[in-house]
Amino acid sequence: DAAERGEYRHFMLKEIFEQPRAIADTLEGRLVGTRVLPESFGNLAPEIFSRVKAVTLVACGTSYHAALVARYWIEALAGLPCTVEVASEYRYRKQVVPAEALFVTLSQSGETADTLAALRLAKASGFAATLAICNVPESSLVRESDLVLLTHAGPEIGVASTKAFTTQLVALLLMTVALGHENALSDTAEAHVVALLRALPAKVEAVLDLDDRIAALAEVFVDKQHTLFLGRGEQYPIAMEGALKLKEISYIHAEAYPAGELKHGPLALIDEQMPVVAVAPNNALLEKLKSNLEEVRARGGQLYVFADLHVPMVEDEGVTVIRLPETDDLIDPIIFTIPLQLLAYHVAVLKGTDVDQPRNLAKSVTVE
Ligand code: G6P
Repeated sequence: DAAERGEYRHFMLKEIFEQPRAIADTLEGRLVGTRVLPESFGNLAPEIFSRVKAVTLVACGTSYHAALVARYWIEALAGLPCTVEVASEYRYRKQVVPAEALFVTLSQSGETADTLAALRLAKASGFAATLAICNVPESSLVRESDLVLLTHAGPEIGVASTKAFTTQLVALLLMTVALGHENALSDTAEAHVVALLRALPAKVEAVLDLDDRIAALAEVFVDKQHTLFLGRGEQYPIAMEGALKLKEISYIHAEAYPAGELKHGPLALIDEQMPVVAVAPNNALLEKLKSNLEEVRARGGQLYVFADLHVPMVEDEGVTVIRLPETDDLIDPIIFTIPLQLLAYHVAVLKGTDVDQPRNLAKSVTVE
């Protein structure tokens, strides 16, 4: 155990720091020049992708959050309608299967009972094809799907998923581009995404340099009972993932909201006892997000903002700004995940919880 952890105190921290390599390994062999190789998903993929008219994504836990991010990408880049659902809900309701729809499951383990049951249901209910994005090559999900893209994150030991999540996002971007190539995505746009993907491992490496700063910030959260996470657009699922990480390993109640919904309830909870963490990339929704954050400040809330280098936001009474390197809209969800993982990790270490084996949770939920 200690030998495998190497210099790291916990597997989770090791796995967080392995992300640049895990992402590079997941991209390996899947890009040619300025294109994504559709055959990365299997020999039948080019033909199947050319027929696909809609996408349904189903998963559990952290994998579900990756699926939620992908919905923004699939609709915006590939121009295909996309629905996302947790597997435990999907499998127990009557659904309308869209014509020529691709059913995609996401799973680190490939053995999650609900996700596997949802796949079996989908195969019997008229989907055009099934695709698994998974980290375990010999898993049930991989064996039972028509198409497969393996994330090459390597074994993930920490119960709280980190490198499996960011490599799933990479896999989903590859899938979006491969689908988009047959639909709404131009060659120039494809080349742009491919260039961003090639530069991604180095970007993630740079964000990991924030570790000490975030370890210091963690002190603020240790004695808190609740934390609110805010994001907008494709950062809303990242806020959800940040909240999930914090509750899984530090046992602090954390909730995520799309910042535009603040007025519809959570604003009533804001006081100086509830820290508010916001994810602020430099995108089209920035001004809206800033005015949402003003609402928090005006009520005495303490704000902790993870912001792109170019976001014009200054530290002030009640506002702490943690700068991230300059990035790009498309890969922002991957970049902004990293500091939230580190935050949850350091809060849990300060609280003295069992970081790699949090109480009541299992790495893989193979029974219903
Ligand atoms: C469990 C794990 C989570 C994981 C979820 C889905 O709850 O503790 O970390 O996200 O299962 O697992 P999967 O292997 O399907 O991604």
